[in-house]
Amino acid sequence: MTQEQDKNENTVGAAAQTSQKNAKAWGGVFTEATDDRMEKFSESISFDKRMYAQDIAGSIAHARMLCDVNLLSAEEFRAIEAELNAIKERIEQGVFQYSTALEDIHMHIEKALIDKLGDVGRKLHTARSRNDQVSTDFRLWIRDAIDSLDRLLAQLQRAFVARCDDDFDVVVPAYTHTQRAQPVLAPHIWLAYVEKFQRDRERLQDCRKRVNTLSLGAAACAGTSLPIDRAKTAQYLGFEAIAANSVDVSSDRDFALEFAFDAAQIALHLSGWAEDWIWQSTVEFSFLKLPQSFCTGSSIMPQKINPDTLELIRGKSARVIGNLTALMTLVKGLPLAYNRDLQEDKERVFDSYDSVADSLAIAAPLVAATKLDRDSIAKRINQGYLDATSLMEYLIRCGVPQRAAHGIVGELVRVAVDSHRALAELPLATFQDACDLIEQNVYDYLGADNAVKAMQSYGSTAPSQVRAQIERWKEKLEL
Ligand code: ARG
Repeated sequence: MTQEQDKNENTVGAAAQTSQKNAKAWGGVFTEATDDRMEKFSESISFDKRMYAQDIAGSIAHARMLCDVNLLSAEEFRAIEAELNAIKERIEQGVFQYSTALEDIHMHIEKALIDKLGDVGRKLHTARSRNDQVSTDFRLWIRDAIDSLDRLLAQLQRAFVARCDDDFDVVVPAYTHTQRAQPVLAPHIWLAYVEKFQRDRERLQDCRKRVNTLSLGAAACAGTSLPIDRAKTAQYLGFEAIAANSVDVSSDRDFALEFAFDAAQIALHLSGWAEDWIWQSTVEFSFLKLPQSFCTGSSIMPQKINPDTLELIRGKSARVIGNLTALMTLVKGLPLAYNRDLQEDKERVFDSYDSVADSLAIAAPLVAATKLDRDSIAKRINQGYLDATSLMEYLIRCGVPQRAAHGIVGELVRVAVDSHRALAELPLATFQDACDLIEQNVYDYLGADNAVKAMQSYGSTAPSQVRAQIERWKEKLEL
């Protein structure tokens, strides 16, 4: 018998002992106890206990509002607040008892409160349902997660920007179609990643606006006949808006899906960067020397130093994309208001957050500790005719139409390839045979360094442009 089978066998026995009474908080109408197997199947405490701090903050704000509108006395509110804080402390000290019988974090905390305060504790759930409560907790949790990802993204951006000055003089090939394309300054590449992570930060800020909406007060699905003040609750929890439709808000998980997408977009950016650095650190490229402290060896090939950190970052994108797909599938076709399916949302969001936060946290020190292999890059920077576009633009400045200039340079590259030379190694006579407008100064635009220096457009790899961008980022990131 497998362990799994064994577990099921045991629960059959336990289920037979169910009594005629149901002790759940919602058990009043029930004449039968919950089957143990159902209890195990439906529990969420094993994962939603992660929201304990948000659940307590939400409950304190709710109780404070109930007190404002005289549904709780000041004394009752103070007792509830003090006890909720004490429960929080017990959870943080690891002495709080969890039990699947209490389903979820909301029930656990409320039960602990009632155990201590009796009827006063029983008043906390006034004008509230777990449907608006879980949505509130989740919004508060995601709001914190957004703020934490923002800090981690900024930290990674800083790691890239911080190395720009040191790497400023290094010219590297930029690739299109994985073929050598044009020469660029290494910091121009670093700042390309910084731009991507900036868009990720902006996307999260945009998502935060919709996350930062109060659900509490929607109650189960219709609102409440009690005289609550939702503006007060919103104010206490720092929510900027109040959900205006009680039926909508209890089914709304748009904010969680948006967050999961934003996390997936970060994971995609990280995976592209990891891929770039994996191949650039191979012997074939020898552009980057990864720090050994972030690599691992092989159990059979003694010479191996493998880029596992980067591979895991690249690999983690799979589960983050999977989580987004799971969440979209989860809400597809769900009817209005709350359905228990929605309990499946939390683990996917937690996992996306954990995967992306862990990846960002390890990426920053890896970026800081990686070294450019300057000699190896310099040795081959003039291979691959990276300056062909520079020559074409020289011809355009001489008055040759672009399409014609493209053709002339194409022929010159062919001549150079056939004679195993770089463009800068061709004699002036060869250039002038191809186009009599070419003069001696053409050599000022040939070679990778010259091609970079000739650049001038906004956003290009022109040294003055890159310098300005570095300064802009330093200021923005307070470096
Ligand atoms: N554990 C539930 C969830 O995560 C809380 C809400 C349960 N609501 C209910 N009416 N059963 O969604």
